[in-house]
This record gives sequence, structure tokens and C-alpha cells, in this order.
Amino acid sequence: MTEKLEDIARALVAPGKGILAADESSGTIKKRFDSIKLTSTEDARRDYREMLFRSTDAMTNYVSGVILYDETIRQKAKDGTSLVDVMKAAGSIPGIKVDTGAKPLAGPTKEIETVTEGLDGLRERLADYYKLGARFAKWRGVITIADGAPTWNCIKANSHALARYAALCQEAGIVPIVEPEVLMDGPHAAHDIDECYRVTEWTLRSVFRELYDARVMLEGMILKPNMVIAGQKASKQASAAEVAEKTLKCLKSTVPASVPGIAFLSGGQSDETATQHLSLMNASGPLPWALTFSYGRALQAAALNAWGGKPENVAAGQRAFTHRAKMNSLAALGTWDAKLEKAA
Ligand code: 13P
Repeated sequence: MTEKLEDIARALVAPGKGILAADESSGTIKKRFDSIKLTSTEDARRDYREMLFRSTDAMTNYVSGVILYDETIRQKAKDGTSLVDVMKAAGSIPGIKVDTGAKPLAGPTKEIETVTEGLDGLRERLADYYKLGARFAKWRGVITIADGAPTWNCIKANSHALARYAALCQEAGIVPIVEPEVLMDGPHAAHDIDECYRVTEWTLRSVFRELYDARVMLEGMILKPNMVIAGQKASKQASAAEVAEKTLKCLKSTVPASVPGIAFLSGGQSDETATQHLSLMNASGPLPWALTFSYGRALQAAALNAWGGKPENVAAGQRAFTHRAKMNSLAALGTWDAKLEKAA
């Protein structure tokens, strides 16, 4: 029996559950490991991800699904069990990053803007990933705010690619996570929150227009957007209440209610800030869609540091990961409180 796209999508955003983004490419995971002075070998990447996926409490109660990288979906745990089976045993759905990265967009802004590639051969790769157990996928388009950017050309190219990817996923029985990210970090990010609002609204309108043209079934997808937030280098940072209010206003005016869920990326926010923003938004409901997390850094940073690449620290790493997963689960219910962080 094939699972229905709508059921998978709803399971990914079930109450109090969210997604772990563990799909760092080889280059990105090397950067993360550099921060704990660990060499990025195949075994080290396996040990790290196995530690996360064997955090049974977190994986069973707070994490609905995990976005994997190509290497990980084919990798075996130390005892020979596939990592996919490890996470499935805990009740978590395997997902896969299928884009092949953001590449410079030819034209006058090529030093700044990118277009995400990976459509060639995607139909065949999706069929392969389905056999490996993936039931949802991710594709990230990147929009940069800078002097003279974003251009309409960049927004249009990335929206179009996202829609073509999403249609191919649904054809393969895989739920697409559609991720248009307006960056809050990087060398250019000095914009204020209102500029982020303007660009996020523009981007989401374009993405949903393309999804409509490609006949993507909105009930069988998840949106993974940025929050509406000032750039990391901006001199004036918005309050948490303002981020929550403007993000919701922007999403309500652009995301149809037939989309079952919105799962935010963390984008460079601190762990606790990403949790706080999500909780504030959910506390101000009711909302037309489920609102949850699909965090990478904000779910993993504490666990990575507690583990430090040492086998004797696996339990400490799992405790740190479980704590952040639990805090974000509460945020997805709108019941997180800063006091609970101290109680950890
Ligand atoms: P961050 O939460 O670290 O932004 O990562 C989420 C993600 O999947 C980016 O594509």
C-alpha cells in the first residue's frame, strides 16, 4: 500500500513534532566539525549522526522526520543496522536533500546571487531514494539581500526550480519540502526587518505562483521558510515580539491554508532565540497551518559541542540534543518558557 502524500505531510507536522535537518553536505559538516577540532571522516560523520538518531526519547517524541544527506541515507550504524532503520525504529520518517547546491547565477549579480541546481536526472534519483526509504525531500533556494539584490531574475529562477522539484517529488510519492531561504547571515546581511519582510513576501508570492503553474498539490507539501528577521549585521535588531508578529503577517498573506504545515529553518539564530520565536508565534494562534521547526544548527549546536567527537561523551551529546528537541516541541505547541531552559 502506498502512503498518501497528505498523510506523510501531516505526520511531519504532527502536534509537538518537528524536523531535524541533518543534511549538511560534506563541505558544511566539515565546517561544523572544524569548530570542535574534529577531522571529518566517513566514520566520524557516521558516529555523530548515529548518536543523534539513537536519542530514542527525542526521536520518538519530538522529531517527526530527519533530512539526510546522500551519504547518510546509504550508511550503516556501527553494528551494521542501516541508519534509516535506526531512525525508523524510533518512529521518525527518513527524508533526503536532493538539490546539488546553490551555484553562482550567471549575469550582473553573479558575485552575490545563486540559483540552486539538481534538476537533471532528479526523477531517477527520487526513485532510488524512495527505494532507500525516503518519504520526503528537501530543496533549498537561496535569496540574498544586498545592494542591487535580490533581482527578479534570481527570485524567478529559484522559484521555478523549486516548483519543478516539488512536482517531480509528488510524482515519485515523496513529500517535497519547499525551502526558499532569504538569508539573515553571510557577508551582506545588514538589512533591517522590514526589508526582510518585503523580500520574503515577494519570494513567497513567486514560489506559490510557480507551484500553482506546476500543479503541485499544496496538501502534500511542507513550506520551509526563513522567519522575518533583521540581518545579522544590522545595527538595529528587532524584538522577539516583532519577529513573531511580522513573520506571521507575512505568512498569512502569502501561504494558502491548504498547505498543512510550515517548518522554519533557523538560519543563524541562536538556539534559544529560534525556540522563543516559534513559541511566540504558536501562542498567538489559532493559525491556518501547523507551525513547527526544521532546524539544523539550532537543534544540533549544543549536541555537537557536548559530544566533541569523543565516544565517552555520547550520552552527554544525546542529553543536549534531547533537551533542544524538547524545547522546540514545546515551542511548536506554543508553551515554551525561558525558565524551562534553566531547569535543564
Ligand atoms: P539551519 O536551521 O541551520 O538554518 O538549517 C536548516 C536547513 O535545512 C538549511 O537548509
